[in-house]
Amino acid sequence: MHIREIDTAKYPATVAVQFLLEDPEGVGQEKAQLEFKAPRTRTLLELALEHGINIEHACGGVCACSTCHVHVEKGMDSLTEATEAEEDRVEEAPGLSRNSRLSCQCEITGNGPIVVRVPAWNRNAVKEVPH
Ligand code: FES
Repeated sequence: MHIREIDTAKYPATVAVQFLLEDPEGVGQEKAQLEFKAPRTRTLLELALEHGINIEHACGGVCACSTCHVHVEKGMDSLTEATEAEEDRVEEAPGLSRNSRLSCQCEITGNGPIVVRVPAWNRNAVKEVPH
């Protein structure tokens, strides 16, 4: 997936975003907690991929699957609101909760801090699909 260039003069990396990984190895990490400073307009999926957290993103970040599903534990008001399209799509994700979001659709707009939980089932569900 293409990670968009961001004008860091206009949007400096100032927003604290913490990722809580339920299965760190499943997304290519060793630690269960990682924290980064992010620029506004960056999506949570882009931020994760940029730092080697390999959240599944089967449709390439265009709101056409639900594999990039995460739980926003904190800082929901620092993200773009869910569109109707996202709400329809996220309903198909396993482990749905009231803080469920599609990480490819969550652009950072506020000051944070933001805490994102990446569920373990995501990786397993995708890997077990036969080809
Ligand atoms: S990557 Fe498909 S909806 Fe986010």
